[in-house]
Amino acid sequence: MGDELLKVENLRVHYPVRSGFFNHVTDYVHAVDGVSFTIQKGQSYGVIGESGSGKSTIGQALVGLVEATSGTITYRGKDVTDKRVRKKLKYNKDVQMIFQDSLSSLDPKKKVIDIIGEPLRNFEKLSRKDLKQLVLELLQTVGLDEESLYKYPHQFSGGQRQRIGVARAVATKPKLIIADEPVSALDLSVQAQVLNYMKAIQKKYGVAFLFISHDLGVVHHMCDNLAIMHRGRFVEIGTREDIYTKRLLAAIPQTDVENRESHRKKHQALEAEYNAQKEDYYDKNGRVYPLEEVTRTHSVALRKE
Ligand SMILES: Nc1ncnc2c1ncn2[C@@H]1O[C@H](COP(=O)(O)OP(=O)(O)OP(=O)(O)O)[C@@H](O)[C@H]1O
Ligand SMILES: [Mg+2]
Repeated sequence: MGDELLKVENLRVHYPVRSGFFNHVTDYVHAVDGVSFTIQKGQSYGVIGESGSGKSTIGQALVGLVEATSGTITYRGKDVTDKRVRKKLKYNKDVQMIFQDSLSSLDPKKKVIDIIGEPLRNFEKLSRKDLKQLVLELLQTVGLDEESLYKYPHQFSGGQRQRIGVARAVATKPKLIIADEPVSALDLSVQAQVLNYMKAIQKKYGVAFLFISHDLGVVHHMCDNLAIMHRGRFVEIGTREDIYTKRLLAAIPQTDVENRESHRKKHQALEAEYNAQKEDYYDKNGRVYPLEEVTRTHSVALRKE
């Protein structure tokens, strides 16, 4: 309890669907439909799930980019569901985000020193000299040299740019970084490198991560606890060891290049088995059943016998 950083309870985000001449709201997309989880200080929590399952929407609701339809977000024991409370608590300084696509999330007209320096300037009063010093240190932590200071985003490789994004996110010494598919735009060979810098940063600053990804390998490498998401709900939560691997494997695409063909076959077999058992996970309206505790750390959405 004492180490609890962020607690999300029954979070729902429903997007209105408008149509017709009067542009009236005719329906809702239940992008996030009642998820609960807790992130401990300095911990990495992973959310895996197929495209459109609602992963990014969770991240966006946590940083306030979209409004929660219902549910509560508690940060360090305070209810931060309300925007005004967040402001008072400097929540926006403490919770930062890293995006998938660094080329569009980093301002192309700004030099690196200003990109990384911007969040610092927003929250702290620093002289130009101190700011430069701080940005330099941050660049070093992600393995970039002094010359990078005055370059523009397009002058870097994808992996380097993602590292700039990491340096920027960590600049305000946040307590939590939400990383939404932070390496999925990168080559496999570069992914590990960027992930290792994130791990190093986590060790150095004690920051917690919410890791959003399609990729079991990435989440396994980074996270102690994970949740599998499907149609706006968590269908399984547990530790790395807990998770029912079959369902996990069926839900994610395979990225291991060397054994692609044998993986593909295995994957297809698992997918067939998974599809055959689908009714075990969903009710007749296609809604996922509520999570049931299997062990103290492991819960699964299964039909009650
Ligand atoms: N601004 C929006 N307005 C309406 N519907 C939206 C909006 N953003 C997302 N959605 C819908 O909400 C659902 C969840 O989207 P979300 O982006 O959270 O999925 P995701 O799990 O991150 O997918 P991906 O892996 O492809 O990034 C999708 O059905 C999507 O079409
Ligand atoms: Mg997404």
